Amino acid sequence: MTKPRLYSGMQPSADSLQAGNYIGALLQWRDMQASYDAFFSVVDLHAITVPQQPEELREKTRRTAAQYIAAGIEPSKSTLYVQSHVRAHAELAWILSTITGFGEAGRMTQFKDKSQRYGSDATSVGLFTYPVLMAADILLYQSELVPVGDDQKQHVELTRDLAERFNSRFGETFTVPMPVIQKDTARIYDLQNPTAKMSKSAESDAGVLWLLDDLAKSAKKIMRAVTDNEGSVHFDRENKPGVSNLLTIYAALTGRQVGSIEDEYAGRGYGDFKKGLAEVVVNEFGPVRERANELLSDPAELDRILAANAAKADAVADATLADVYDRIGL
Ligand code: ADP
Ligand code: NA
Repeated sequence: MTKPRLYSGMQPSADSLQAGNYIGALLQWRDMQASYDAFFSVVDLHAITVPQQPEELREKTRRTAAQYIAAGIEPSKSTLYVQSHVRAHAELAWILSTITGFGEAGRMTQFKDKSQRYGSDATSVGLFTYPVLMAADILLYQSELVPVGDDQKQHVELTRDLAERFNSRFGETFTVPMPVIQKDTARIYDLQNPTAKMSKSAESDAGVLWLLDDLAKSAKKIMRAVTDNEGSVHFDRENKPGVSNLLTIYAALTGRQVGSIEDEYAGRGYGDFKKGLAEVVVNEFGPVRERANELLSDPAELDRILAANAAKADAVADATLADVYDRIGL
């Protein structure tokens, strides 16, 4: 029996991924790869929609791929590749842009947010058409499911609209994908500002737990995490966002229920709880960090894995693209 196709990706926008990327994306992907024919991309073509340094981008792309593997994405089971290695992404994005409405693209809230941040002259047309490239990423592989965070849901809806529009104009060509929206239990917040999402592009990294950081440094960040004055370890997102976030991280990394962790720390202070969490994080990130560094120390082997996987992706993407060309008269 063939497994349903799944597609997801991350931008190589930092040297290290952060705990939210690990818990909210990589751990979910790792668990899904047995049941799906999964394509996991490092989306470097998306990363160039904002200014980049070429050498840094190349390095971040390799490091991101290494972290996928180190976190348990198996390049022999899933297709783990770098987006720009597969030319069909850019080609299909162009074609899809010709059936995307200007107003439709202009309604994407992420573009509105980002372009406000950069200002009109520093905002590229590529940032505007970013969601069309994302639609191409997904549709090339006839993906049925697309795991995404809340902020990407609108882009998957656009992808569905474009697939349906293309199919009705030119005949059945694309599978119409469904978003798989991330669970609340996988959403991680900044340790210093626990109502804001932890992000690798945060202005300050004081509250960001880096997957590849020195372990003692990560432990220190946990000990300094913002909590509250109550002194009791229990989950209350509204009134205790800091402690609730630490509980979410603890539960996600151990596979335990929040309730059982609350019980363990009943009557004990935040210091004990943070020490416990620091230990959990060190135990979980340590081996991932070690494996990632091992992969990065053997560039030829990583290149070989990425080239073999790009070839797997190419085969599927080229077949879709050939069909698209044929149907639109190219
Ligand atoms: P970042 O904000 O770190 O740059 P991205 O926007 O590139 O993250 O997201 C990459 C993936 O990681 C997406 O699947 C996204 O849902 C997930 N992700 C990012 N930040 C978090 C977070 N704080 N908690 C849970 N998942 C996250
Ligand atoms: Na980002």
